[in-house]
Amino acid sequence: MKISVLGLGYVGAVSLACLARDRHQVIGVDIDSAKLALLSEGKTPVVEAGMVELMAEVMASGRVTVTAEVQAAVHGSDISLICVGTPSAQNGSQDQSAVVRVTRELGAALRSKTAPHIIVFRSTLAPGTVDGMLRPLLEETSGKRHGEDFYVCFQPEFLREGSSIRDYDRPPFTVVGTAHEYPVTVLKALFGHLPCEFHVTSIQAAEMVKYCCNNFHALKITFANETARLCEALGVDSFEVMDLLCRDTQLNISPAYLRPGFAFGGSCLPKDLRATMYLSRQHDVDLPMLGSILASNRQHLEHAISKVLASGRRRIGMIGLSFKTGTDDLRESPLVLLAEHLIGKGLSLSIYDPGVTLSRLLGANRRYIEQTIAHIGSLMRERLEEVVEESDLLIVAQGDPATASALVQLARKDQLLLDLTRLPNRADIKCKYEGLCW
Ligand SMILES: NC(=O)c1ccc[n+]([C@@H]2O[C@H](COP(=O)([O-])OP(=O)(O)OC[C@H]3O[C@@H](n4cnc5c(N)ncnc54)[C@H](O)[C@@H]3O)[C@@H](O)[C@H]2O)c1
Repeated sequence: MKISVLGLGYVGAVSLACLARDRHQVIGVDIDSAKLALLSEGKTPVVEAGMVELMAEVMASGRVTVTAEVQAAVHGSDISLICVGTPSAQNGSQDQSAVVRVTRELGAALRSKTAPHIIVFRSTLAPGTVDGMLRPLLEETSGKRHGEDFYVCFQPEFLREGSSIRDYDRPPFTVVGTAHEYPVTVLKALFGHLPCEFHVTSIQAAEMVKYCCNNFHALKITFANETARLCEALGVDSFEVMDLLCRDTQLNISPAYLRPGFAFGGSCLPKDLRATMYLSRQHDVDLPMLGSILASNRQHLEHAISKVLASGRRRIGMIGLSFKTGTDDLRESPLVLLAEHLIGKGLSLSIYDPGVTLSRLLGANRRYIEQTIAHIGSLMRERLEEVVEESDLLIVAQGDPATASALVQLARKDQLLLDLTRLPNRADIKCKYEGLCW
């Protein structure tokens, strides 16, 4: 394939070298003449394991040329990978000046190109940048049409400095954001041989995935480091603790707890987090990340409350009250807090939770309901039908299969359903629908 790589820093230089190694014809573009001079001599512009040998090899192969001219690169290739820097601006926003400049130059070059061209943004970009700014800019500067004369994709780069050639060859996965088939076929030909999954999604989702991955990595590092600071103060071996934590691939290192939904609660997580924070204060250990979790969880509850209030509906039916489906445990259930808030705002409420109803009938949780949350207990109904019948807004917080399918029959067109759990059959339910944050 004939490929141009625009921006020859860590990402661009390694991509250029690996693509040329894999026998593609590659044109490298950079505005930095010192980098171009180094490359022309077969030298690497970045310090990376294996790059000295690889650059010398691919430059000698005759498959690589370098230039400062975007025009020449676009006309000499079928696909351009954009790898220019997107550093932080003073105010924390993303400095997009390089990517805007290179996009303008690409658009101008496309004006005089007749064959379809694929533009793949590989620089990390804030979600919405490609569809909201760069694609329109390409259309404006080229006078051509996206999806006909040229195709735009966003393909996040996951390589890490220090092991970038190895990461290029073994990425965690390939994610391509595009709305078109043609670039997918071409990118599969380029990257489909890599030993990983190949996913196609929307451009915005692909942009977001990159941020999300980096944020998750930062979160993991900080979690390990905060845990280690507390372990140090307690005289516990943090490596042993973290090693064991990672051995649990069921709940810890797994997709468990990574599905968006309602706030957490129950009899364990909030109390143990509070105790951890107390312990850290006793030992003068500052743990700002762990210390902010309960506040963030509270914010999630507020988000649900504000959606209910914004709906303007006053007769509320809550489906689910315990902290998760299939239990009758009401201790620290965020749904109890939600119910209390809504009552406090003067809304009328009725509640259905099959687990809690059953336990109340059995007498198991009766004392807790009657003594601790009597004001909520009196709002509980034994049948889902009653709650649906009495409500203008249904808050669905639990989605056991029986309740979810009953809603298809029971919900009315005039009702609004606020879904805190993302019902699998939400498309089949007749009323108006709103997800908590989706
Ligand atoms: N460094 C990494 O490990 C890594 C990993 C994944 C993603 N990313 C992302 O990839 C992008 C590139 O990162 P990097 O570390 O390779 O950046 P870098 O700063 O090392 O290199 C960017 C290159 O782009 C060149 N450039 C700037 N404007 C240009 C223009 N108008 N035309 C041509 N070239 C131009 C610069 O001269 C420089 O050589 C960033 O968005 C970054 O967030 C980086």
